[in-house]
Amino acid sequence: MILVTGGAGFIGANFVLDWLAQVGEPVVNLDRLTYAGNLGNLAAVKDDRRHQFVRGDIGDRGLVANLLETHRPRAIINFAAETHVDRSIHGPAAFIETNVVGTFALLDVARTHFAALPPIERAQFRFLHVSTDEVFGSLGPDEAGFSETTAYAPNSPYSASKAAADHLVRAYHHTYDLPVLTTNCSNNYGPRQFPEKLIPLMFHNAVAGKPLPVYGDGGNVRDWLFVGDHCAAIRVVLERGRVGETYNVGGSAERTNLEVVETLCRILGEQKPGRDYRKQITFVKDRPGHDRRYAIDATKIGRELGWAPRETFDSGLAATVRWYLENSAWLAAVTSGEYHKWVSLNYAAGAVA
Ligand code: NAD
Ligand code: TYD
Repeated sequence: MILVTGGAGFIGANFVLDWLAQVGEPVVNLDRLTYAGNLGNLAAVKDDRRHQFVRGDIGDRGLVANLLETHRPRAIINFAAETHVDRSIHGPAAFIETNVVGTFALLDVARTHFAALPPIERAQFRFLHVSTDEVFGSLGPDEAGFSETTAYAPNSPYSASKAAADHLVRAYHHTYDLPVLTTNCSNNYGPRQFPEKLIPLMFHNAVAGKPLPVYGDGGNVRDWLFVGDHCAAIRVVLERGRVGETYNVGGSAERTNLEVVETLCRILGEQKPGRDYRKQITFVKDRPGHDRRYAIDATKIGRELGWAPRETFDSGLAATVRWYLENSAWLAAVTSGEYHKWVSLNYAAGAVA
């Protein structure tokens, strides 16, 4: 079986659902259920005996040691993190606590566990750490995409905390022989993404008739990766990735934020006609330190492991919009209470450019 952390969040939950459908091997899912964790994401496997949910923190050494001892997973896949750049600007401490200190504790407990395993289990064991392209900093308009050898240059408290975690993962391999794998992926989108992130936030506001707040001039570029393609990449890295290596995962779909929002408005107009959603686009004050461009060079994972994204940006976005339209109860459930507090903090009056 495998131990997944952060499996009630956006990518983790998609991964668990995909894993059970495609591989079928049992999963223990450790998640603290922060504002971003949602058991509703896992409703489809609520009664599935192959899935066991445990509420807890990756930094809780006793709990993690106990789970490793009890279940003896062949792999740990670490998705658990604080993930929203804007929140890291308003409150970086939680990012250091989970992404740095929490990952350190998880690595350390895994190391002790790994060292005591019998040889056959040791040979199979993997620690796969899910990271981000944001650790590489910002690209100029004509620069080549980030490769696995691009120097780290994180610019936000979020990316700095992820970079620190990546360095610890690397060090645990070099120093203690922990069999680690690291993936650095670009911006994901798809079903079950919390509506603080660009695409679900714009969807939510569009259908509610609210402004679509584009930061700055809307010219910042991201490389959009459909979450199902990301889950497939993690599966191949886990099965065939070379221990100690890092793999960059991207969608080959660079778009400016304005292009993303306009495409979303067009697709929404096709699936839920009746209004020109583009009229709701509003330019607002830019995010401090806003990275201009991210792009991934995914040559290595293609060459070594045969992975390539299946979805185009249009097909992935059409599937995503369809999911959100069909799951309005999911969206309503996650956009109450705490969510409204966040929206009023981040999009405070006067922020409109
Ligand atoms: P998310 O914010 O949707 O989910 C994070 C999950 O981790 C939540 O379920 C939360 O409850 C859980 N969690 C947080 N702190 C925890 C702790 N201390 N112990 C246990 N669980 C904890 O995030 P996501 O978008 O699913 O991202 C998953 C991983 O992928 C993260 O490591 C993130 O850095 C990375 N990543 C995400 C993207 C993206 O576009 N979403 C891009 C690149 C990399
Ligand atoms: P986001 O989804 O927060 O991901 P990240 O910052 O990790 O790339 O944002 C994606 C892009 O969209 C980023 O350039 C910031 C921009 N953005 C907006 O223009 N408006 C918004 O309301 C949000 C949330 C993001």
